[in-house]
Amino acid sequence: MPHIELRPGIHWVGVNDRVTDLFEGLWPLPSGVSYNAYLVVGKKAALIDGVKAPFAEELLENISQVLDPAELDYLVVNHMEPDHSGALPLLRRLAPKAEVLATPAALPMLARFYGITAGVRGVEDGETLDLGGKVLKFFHIPFVHWPETMATYEETERVLFPCDAFGGFRALDGVLYDDQVDVREYEDEILRYFSNIVGMHTRPVLKAIDKLAGLPIEVIAPSHGLIWRKDPGHIVELYSRWARMEGRPEATLIYGSMYGHTRLMAEAVARGVRAAGAAVRVLDASRVHVSYLIREAWKRKGLIIGAPTYDGGIFPPLERLLRMLERKRLKGRVVGVFGSYAWHGGAVRKLVEQAEKLGWQVVGEAGFQGAPTPEDLAAGEALGREVARHVREG
Ligand SMILES: Cc1cc2nc3c(=O)[nH]c(=O)nc-3n(C[C@H](O)[C@H](O)[C@H](O)COP(=O)(O)O)c2cc1C
Ligand SMILES: [Fe+2]
Ligand SMILES: [Fe+2]
Repeated sequence: MPHIELRPGIHWVGVNDRVTDLFEGLWPLPSGVSYNAYLVVGKKAALIDGVKAPFAEELLENISQVLDPAELDYLVVNHMEPDHSGALPLLRRLAPKAEVLATPAALPMLARFYGITAGVRGVEDGETLDLGGKVLKFFHIPFVHWPETMATYEETERVLFPCDAFGGFRALDGVLYDDQVDVREYEDEILRYFSNIVGMHTRPVLKAIDKLAGLPIEVIAPSHGLIWRKDPGHIVELYSRWARMEGRPEATLIYGSMYGHTRLMAEAVARGVRAAGAAVRVLDASRVHVSYLIREAWKRKGLIIGAPTYDGGIFPPLERLLRMLERKRLKGRVVGVFGSYAWHGGAVRKLVEQAEKLGWQVVGEAGFQGAPTPEDLAAGEALGREVARHVREG
């Protein structure tokens, strides 16, 4: 995709990544991801953010359509994660007079990641930089996504460049803006990005939203995914709702099963949820990547986990899910747990312990030996109804 001028003197020069299988070596990218970089051109020219190293040539090509990279005056590094900073070594060589601007907290990272120590300046929170016809203002937003992160705001065109904040997975399919697509089709991939990548930093996200709220913003131009010019308020609203972790009054049921006993019970529990008037989404943790499980758990207030006992503990795919949800600090879930065992069990007790450790409200449990009996299945349905009742009553 060639560069696009999104406002006078402000150009998108980013790239689509459709070849990386796993973002951060962890999160699947079936629809790709974009690394959005931007040129702001006044009398002086600044590049805001960059791309992952393998795409540096493509970034340079896009910049060259606007100006000779050697003429760049500033490289603004909002965030040091290499999906944005990876092109810095090449940019340094081709734009030797450009000064690197980042937060003071980013300076040791610039040194240790890339050996960049000269021609670098730490910018203060609230500092402005006059490019001549364009004015940049920097806002430190620590932990959205790393401690050194900042957002850059262009005052004359009222464009916010918040880097990871307000970004999402999914490459840009020949489009750039929210008004060119049905945004609802993108929201699942944006939530998956949010819950997988910045989810654990919900408090910093809410703080950043508060901090930037006073700015007159006409365009939000994140460094992943759609640019929001028709309705920038929408992505802010989505991010703040997800950060508050309220969840819809529905249930996500995630189970694993080796020989089908726990799976049969899962069907009964799901019927119970539905019978009590709440929607439920059922997922098999052995078959659905944890990236998606985290997202689905984030979506709904109710979370039901089914795991057989395995080596005295929780069947590993569910154990992994719970560990990830602990890392991502998902809060405020109404929880039910169930699972089969053959001789002594242990999974259900450990599921309850884990859920309580995470501060979730456990409203029921249903462990059973071997294949579920009609009584076990009835207890499973009752468990589903109980979760549904709690999420519906709030
Ligand atoms: C590798 C392995 C380890 C197991 N460890 C335990 C255990 O420690 N305690 C127990 O009661 N059952 C244990 N079981 C038995 C299963 O929990 C039991 O067969 C259960 O019914 C399986 O449920 P599922 O049909 O949903 O997979 C183990 C089974 C396997 C295959
Ligand atoms: Fe990041
Ligand atoms: Fe990023």
